[in-house]
Amino acid sequence: MRKIGCFTLLLLAEPTSLTPCFTKHQHLRYNPLRDTWVLVSAHRMKRPWAGQVEKPPEEHVPRHDPHNPLCPGNTRANGEINPDYDSTFLFENDFPALQPDAPDPGSGQHPLFQSRAARGVCKVMCFHPWSDVTLPLMKKEEVVKVIDKWAELVEELGSTYPWVQIFENKGAMMGCSNPHPHCQVWASNFLPNEPALSDRCQRAFHQKHGEPLLLQYAKQEAEKKERVVVETSDWLAVVPYWATWPYQTLLLPRRHVLRINDLTAEEREGLADIMRRLLTKYDNLFEISFPYSMGWHGAPTGPHLTEDNSHWQLHAHYYPPLLRSATVKKFMVGYEMLAQEQRDLTPEQAAEKLRNLSEEHYKTRDN
Ligand SMILES: *[C@@H]1O[C@H](CO)[C@@H](O)[C@H](O)[C@H]1NC(C)=O
Repeated sequence: MRKIGCFTLLLLAEPTSLTPCFTKHQHLRYNPLRDTWVLVSAHRMKRPWAGQVEKPPEEHVPRHDPHNPLCPGNTRANGEINPDYDSTFLFENDFPALQPDAPDPGSGQHPLFQSRAARGVCKVMCFHPWSDVTLPLMKKEEVVKVIDKWAELVEELGSTYPWVQIFENKGAMMGCSNPHPHCQVWASNFLPNEPALSDRCQRAFHQKHGEPLLLQYAKQEAEKKERVVVETSDWLAVVPYWATWPYQTLLLPRRHVLRINDLTAEEREGLADIMRRLLTKYDNLFEISFPYSMGWHGAPTGPHLTEDNSHWQLHAHYYPPLLRSATVKKFMVGYEMLAQEQRDLTPEQAAEKLRNLSEEHYKTRDN
């Protein structure tokens, strides 16, 4: 009965016995947060590869660079001087994509030429006064300070703005040229596309199944274990079943939490702990400071604060671009751009690789 082949097994829904098939045969997987499908073609990892595999030389980052506009005491592009900060440091982006006072362009008269007003604020937040540390090399209490600041910003900007996007672009490969540990926070008067789609999907699931999508998902993954990378009593980091980037992860609280500012002090400590462990594994994978784009998604804010958002569950997405080595990146081009997202190694293989890696960082912080 169980030997009749991949598709029969799929119908029998026996997840563990499916794995051999999943690694041998291409198949589609559903992403319930985006209502899209990803093509998984694991057998392609076997194809010969003539590309570069060696690790680039470790970049030397000085602890303090007098010309880096993010360092304490330095002058930024607009002539402002940074304070001599010793923890996190927040300032308005000197080249903001969103400003609070942009004029309303009007809605447009034709359905093919619609427009709307875009208003908001863009802030930059340094995680630490030193340029030569990253989150996994920071002390736990230093990471908690970052989390507290994130929560404070969502509380403050979210009191009026419908969406507050916290995101970190790390590494030159992700278009971030400044090595100083920092993130950005953009608050907007509109719900951007990705959270709007995620909102619709979570709402529809909740209506149909009577439980928040990601709460049920976390429970399932905690039981199955095959995609879990790191877990604590309050948190779970998994390579999602529908991951598109090779080592993509989803970071979730186990409790039903709507927004980052709803986390208790204990949950923030737990978050600092799991972030450091996950990011250490990321760095250890190719023994480099692992590039990625990450960001937080929680229930919408501003006018949505008074609405029922029980379908939402707070989560962070990590999207790292690397595939085979420190230099071989996955490109989302060709088929991905024109047809559908595709991945090579299975999410289970990626999770196992990450899970097996040490939680001791390959580099030690000197101080
Ligand atoms: C992970 O570790 C287990 C146990 O040591 C080993 O059997 C397995 O091959 C490893 N997997 C990967 C992908 O490194």
